[in-house]
Amino acid sequence: MAKVKTTFFCQNCGTQFAKWQGQCTACKEWNTIVEELVQKPEKSDWKTPTSPTKRASVPLLINEIDTTKEARLDTFDGELNRVLGGGIVPGSLTLLGGEPGIGKSTLLLQVSLSLPYKTLYVSGEESQKQIKMRAERINPNNSNCYILTETKTQNIFKQIEALEPDIVIIDSIQTLHSDYIESSSGSISQIKECTTELIKFAKETSTPVLLIGHITKDGHIAGPKILEHMVDTVLQFEGDRNHVFRILRANKNRFGSTNELGIYEMQGSGLREVSNPSEILISKKDEELSGNAIAATLEGMRPLMIEVQALVSTAVYGTPQRSATGFNSKRLNMLLAVLEKRAGFRLGAKDVFLNITGGITVDDPAIDLAVVASILSSNEDVFIPKDFCFAAEVGLSGEIRPVQRVEQRILEAEKLGFATIFVSKYNKISLKNTAIRIQLISKIEDLVDFIV
Ligand code: TYD
Ligand code: MG
Repeated sequence: MAKVKTTFFCQNCGTQFAKWQGQCTACKEWNTIVEELVQKPEKSDWKTPTSPTKRASVPLLINEIDTTKEARLDTFDGELNRVLGGGIVPGSLTLLGGEPGIGKSTLLLQVSLSLPYKTLYVSGEESQKQIKMRAERINPNNSNCYILTETKTQNIFKQIEALEPDIVIIDSIQTLHSDYIESSSGSISQIKECTTELIKFAKETSTPVLLIGHITKDGHIAGPKILEHMVDTVLQFEGDRNHVFRILRANKNRFGSTNELGIYEMQGSGLREVSNPSEILISKKDEELSGNAIAATLEGMRPLMIEVQALVSTAVYGTPQRSATGFNSKRLNMLLAVLEKRAGFRLGAKDVFLNITGGITVDDPAIDLAVVASILSSNEDVFIPKDFCFAAEVGLSGEIRPVQRVEQRILEAEKLGFATIFVSKYNKISLKNTAIRIQLISKIEDLVDFIV
């Protein structure tokens, strides 16, 4: 192996050191010093002398740049295609992050198994036998997918050169290591170096690379922030591990919008695409129960009907409990205060529990009205008719505020057979002859009149 030169830099102030130390003597920050490559050996690992793109880049007129080769690769997964903006762009790097056990490996293995192209799935986490066992659960008959268990990038490139796959999947970037850097896998400098090598490979051969990334306990992708800057697309896979639904969203996408959302259901045989989420998220029950209300929300560009459940009961202990699952608890406290002040409800001595069914977290403000309605319904122990739904934000003075793209929400509710939708009076609605009744309200008292 040719000699490589590395040195240590403080990530905070940029001071250079000859060896690693815990504290930077210049800026006094701790744990900011990482190893970086100064000079690579002459022979680079990713080398394709025949590759036409290998020559030095020359400036081109923007109109002369050929985009026909950028046709996207179909992933044969409708949800993933939508989130990526229509498929994988050749030569792009996509990073998929998410909690452990959420199903990142399952998703990408499933994608590799359904592709008709030659795919290489590189795993540094599981053995070939383990992956085979998982593959048998998902899709036992595929002959285009190669599995490699390797963590050293130099060896991976050797195999890639021999195999020439159309798409490469790496599980995970934190397990890779490059010979050029001394520090252990998963360290900032290793992640940076391995990603740089992969980007070089991807851009030079127009092969798309999908990376799996671990996340830290505060929800960020482990490793340097620069990792997210380097890749073209950052996807996040989330959902409650104890529930069956998983949501895939794009946090960054150089080739499409970040508004789109993919929904999956985890089953015994892998992830199933949920193409009509609203039908599943609303429980179909015959009995009418108090404390349930349905919100017409939007997740990205997709309308999504979500069921909100509230339970209001007399507090047993001195301090009442407020607990919210899938909804911001500060916002819940605010809505309770509005109810107390504007509608005269004495909720101060009551426990309030709120749950968004399906294990989904919603941050669309249009869910406010359904939250308020479910609390009122549970508090009064009267049920809200099953065919009512709600879409509006509630303001601090109890006013019902308009929400964006209300017509799309109304049409979704109509499609699913709802009879009445409550929206703000201040929304501009130009829909005519809808089968659904559009109930316009302007303040919280109006809602109380309807429910109680
Ligand atoms: P995995 O893909 O290993 O998660 P990650 O790579 O994000 O850590 O997720 C696995 C979870 O999914 C595991 O708890 C088992 C479950 N699972 C199923 O329910 N059905 C299946 O077909 C597979 C393959 C996994
Ligand atoms: Mg995994």
